[in-house]
Amino acid sequence: MLIWLPYVRLKPDTTNVGACHRLPTTNHQLPATGYRLPARMVQPVTDVLTVNPDAPEKGAIARAAEVLRAGGLVAFPTETVYGLGAHALDPVAIRRIFEAKERPATDPLIVHVGSIDRVASLVADLPDEVGKLAARFWPGPLTVVLARSHVVPDEVTAGLATVAIRVPAHPVARALLAAAGIPIAAPSANLFSRPSPTRADHVLQDLHGRIDLVIDGGPTSVGVESTVLDLARGVPTILRPGAVTREMLLEVLPRVDIREDAMVDAAGAMASPGLLAKHYSPRARLTLYEGDAAAVATRIADDARAQILGGRSVGIIAADEDQFDGAHVVRVGAAHDVAAIASRLYAALRELDEAGVDVILARGFPALPGLGVAIADRLRRAAAGRVVHC
Ligand code: TXA
Ligand code: MG
Repeated sequence: MLIWLPYVRLKPDTTNVGACHRLPTTNHQLPATGYRLPARMVQPVTDVLTVNPDAPEKGAIARAAEVLRAGGLVAFPTETVYGLGAHALDPVAIRRIFEAKERPATDPLIVHVGSIDRVASLVADLPDEVGKLAARFWPGPLTVVLARSHVVPDEVTAGLATVAIRVPAHPVARALLAAAGIPIAAPSANLFSRPSPTRADHVLQDLHGRIDLVIDGGPTSVGVESTVLDLARGVPTILRPGAVTREMLLEVLPRVDIREDAMVDAAGAMASPGLLAKHYSPRARLTLYEGDAAAVATRIADDARAQILGGRSVGIIAADEDQFDGAHVVRVGAAHDVAAIASRLYAALRELDEAGVDVILARGFPALPGLGVAIADRLRRAAAGRVVHC
């Protein structure tokens, strides 16, 4: 259906990156005239702008920045995972994030800014630690939780007295923040409780037709979400493990705790599966196998055989060196290669869902240093308590 809107004049599109020329199809793309497209005329279309991840084209970034400033939703790559961005100081735009993701309003968002200079107005207090951490880890995969200022809407913080802030390192995220000139609230760009997206097509799998724009900057490099560090209450405490590890933080801060329930402990998971937040999950039921590598391999092979005999299709998450047959096997990297495993883990979960397997048997990587802590955490959450110790 052709929609003719005489009062909307689109500027000629100057991008040369596959941008689409089309009339506004969502209300966020309209100028701020107060006019709203009737619901039946809103088309479920999400535009995709493909950019050079190292030097994103200015026209594409300017267009995405404009959508954000006007209250729209733009998914963009960060070095960790793709984020679903909205104007952090616009409560209406923020509510759209929760609607698009089907995320409970009780789950607060991370605010992204271009540099530490942009943090002061968002917080009630800027402890010295932030400067030290910023000098070492920003831009990068570290989020800090600080007492918030009145500028930050309740919608962003889920009514908490604190706000989570990070300065991302990805050139696309940095260019977008610079062009938009606003703080950008951005959770991971997936439907609530699905694995975070590490590629633009993952974003489209979950959010196509629900958001205005996706900037496709290729696969993200880290692959798991940022470390969340609480600086608002006493001893700095890791709420979510990520690429900036406790050991790295201890090089800058005298003391760093890890909140117990931030790390899903495998033994605890066995004892109280019902208490576990189910997060980062594929649709198929995932069981995690931890322990001695040879014993894990034997047990997975046995369980896969039993599942297949029971008529179920089986997906296996394996290391490069593992040998399995008869199932859909996805290899995430050599068993010691934490960087490869982290960067491929979520894509592996999505691949197995796309393949339509009934169950996923995942080899654990429990004792690896560095990113290994975050990998074990995400796998245990995906398993939601189904952890087999070998
Ligand atoms: O790497 C990342 O952090 C990605 C990219 C897009 O930046 N973002 C991300 O956002 O993972 P999200 O919304 O999926 O996860 C944010 C985490 C949640 O666990 C949330 O509970 C926590 O940060 N969080 C946000 N605000 C908080 C606050 N004020 N206090 C404690 N935790 C908070
Ligand atoms: Mg998330």
